[in-house]
Amino acid sequence: MLKPVKTLFSILLAGAISVNLAGQSNLPVYLNENKPIEERVEDALSRMTLEEKVAMCHAQSKFSSAGVPRLGIPENWATDGPHGIRPEVLWDEWDQAGWTNDSCVAFPALTCLAATWNKDMSALYGKSIGEEARYRNKNILLGPGVNIYRTPLNGRNFEYMGEDPFLASKMVVPYIQGVQANGVAACVKHYALNNQEIDRHTVNVNVDDRTLYEIYLPAFKAAVQEGNAWAIMGAYNRYKGQWACHNQYLLNDILRDEWGFDGVVVSDWGGVNNTMQAIYNGLDMEFGSWTDGLSEGASNAYDNYYLANPFLKLLYSGEVKVEEVDKKVRNILRLAFRTTMNTKRPWGSFGTPEHAAAGRKIAEEGIVLLKNNGVLPVDLNKTKKILVVGENAIKPMTVGGGSSSLKAKNEIAPLDGIMNRVGKQADVIYARGYVGDPTSEYNGVKLKRDLHDSRSAAELIEEATRLAKDADIVIFIGGLNKSDGQDSEGNDRKELNLSYGQDNVIAELAKANKNLVVVNISGNAIAMPWINEVPSIVQTWYNGTESGTALASILMGDANPSGKLPFTFPVKLDDNGAHKLGDYPGVDKEETYKEGLFVGYRWADKENVKPLFPFGHGLSYTTFEYGKVAADKKEMTADGKISFTVNVKNTGNRDGAEVVQLYISDLKSSLPRPVKELKGFEKVTLKAGEEKTVTFTVDKTALSYFDDKKHDWVAESGDFEAIIGASATDIKSKVGFKLK
Ligand code: GLC
Repeated sequence: MLKPVKTLFSILLAGAISVNLAGQSNLPVYLNENKPIEERVEDALSRMTLEEKVAMCHAQSKFSSAGVPRLGIPENWATDGPHGIRPEVLWDEWDQAGWTNDSCVAFPALTCLAATWNKDMSALYGKSIGEEARYRNKNILLGPGVNIYRTPLNGRNFEYMGEDPFLASKMVVPYIQGVQANGVAACVKHYALNNQEIDRHTVNVNVDDRTLYEIYLPAFKAAVQEGNAWAIMGAYNRYKGQWACHNQYLLNDILRDEWGFDGVVVSDWGGVNNTMQAIYNGLDMEFGSWTDGLSEGASNAYDNYYLANPFLKLLYSGEVKVEEVDKKVRNILRLAFRTTMNTKRPWGSFGTPEHAAAGRKIAEEGIVLLKNNGVLPVDLNKTKKILVVGENAIKPMTVGGGSSSLKAKNEIAPLDGIMNRVGKQADVIYARGYVGDPTSEYNGVKLKRDLHDSRSAAELIEEATRLAKDADIVIFIGGLNKSDGQDSEGNDRKELNLSYGQDNVIAELAKANKNLVVVNISGNAIAMPWINEVPSIVQTWYNGTESGTALASILMGDANPSGKLPFTFPVKLDDNGAHKLGDYPGVDKEETYKEGLFVGYRWADKENVKPLFPFGHGLSYTTFEYGKVAADKKEMTADGKISFTVNVKNTGNRDGAEVVQLYISDLKSSLPRPVKELKGFEKVTLKAGEEKTVTFTVDKTALSYFDDKKHDWVAESGDFEAIIGASATDIKSKVGFKLK
């Protein structure tokens, strides 16, 4: 009896298995995830009509583009931005859709991430923001931005990773990998040479090849070749007279041919200006066009996109070969298989305490202690009355600044953070000090707090200085605020100095109480005419949801500051190459980067200009001592490596972290080179009294420069120096070596 049943069972089981296998093999190739992605791309492409192909190449709404419903290929949904997931907007508007479930965690601005000099923080950031994008069902995150900080006036530097191509190249990679592990494409922007907001839609940037390859491209190249970015966003500006969103040089020659990029090129919103260039010069997906005056905002506006009906007509007539649209669609299908059609990708999470905690950790690691004559950390055993002054202590910063603006589920402003932290241990009182911009609204996201204050500047200063007189410590919290001309997209700052009379408030407070701390919130350097009167200065950033918590933990000493500046603070604008030699912001929409390679500390070294605070600078509540750097060989071969070791000791009485920086100097080169260039960094945590050995191992790429004649990287034999610094000017030791 048993035998027949067993046989029947085994037949059924075998049948089930074969059906299952057959099921997989019965799937069309493009739906079969066991098949190689390129086979799936070709199979899907072969099934698509011309109209379906063209529809994929342009937007169908403000932030989405068509899929192929007939084949089960989903739409693509993009979302801003680099610091968090933008609230949902109406189908075809920038205005709010009014959802009640899209309040996100706002993460720190990318200047803060860069200031951590900690690749683990970048990985944590990418993972967290990727989970938020995934949960909101967006498959293209419009970030990170890695444009180089050429001038301290650029409105969008707060969205980028500083002035040095090596730092940006190293910090952008883990972020991308973290985002894409969620099945969401990072869309690295704005490629390339978008280094100012003035005339951003029209300026034609002239820059020599060496500067382009050595300064402005490396972070994008790392994003593609190390980060394996699945998307790149073209910039608005022109380069060699062609719009960056459809640019033969940047997109076809460099991105595709030299770097081997296999992802999609997305335009910036409104960055497309010409159908033929869009077809032939490397663009895949057109977003945000205002249509060329054909029918702004008409219901069929998307049909009028450069890559919509005009493209289809050219294909129908045969003037443009189908191969041209197939190239684009292959890239878009690859995006789909990597994201929306990847059935194994995680589900994400949104607005969670874990993400808020991640933002706080990144903020605590990115806050920079610029100066400290003993006032910090605040000793709550001795401090009974703390006065907090300044609009930025109460002004939420997650709203505003342009497309990176957010609708945050929560935001702890600095004053809230300080009050929460101090509790009953001391009295915390607040004085406005100045009124900057009491409004804060972006695309319909309004601030909950009403910041209006009708008192005069004199009244506000009188109140602040009066209260300062009998406070134990005064903490001024000011800076920029992401309003127009104050670190925001679409316009640059007009000057290096703070606005709203803040310099005067600070000077008056310094007279009223010598225990003054100035906290500057910004994404750019500022001038500090009061620097000699202020014993302690903290540089902090637009740090999102946990801004106030992170700042309080640094000020009260719970966390030991370990951030380092990702850009130079010049004393005055003329100490910056873009302004001294220029020709920022350009003339008649033409701009030539005459300062060339000499950006940031490279300029300071070349011109012997002493910065207010140098690139890589940041203090701690403990102290560190460096040993002498040693090389493992005197001479390295072109195909070899060389290692440098240096001991670092925490000589203070509390745990801390130090960023050890390796610069390389080419003592003699046939082409002009910066005095030194960052080629390594390591953030090392040290317990009080602990000593560690840090090792850097480099190959010839760390010695190379771009030879524009050869159009290749060259490492010239000769004498070099490895320089260990705690900043670009705080040089600890050097060791010479030769490249054979
Ligand atoms: C904006 C920005 C870009 C943003 C896009 C969508 O103009 O330049 O960074 O992602 O449009 O908002």
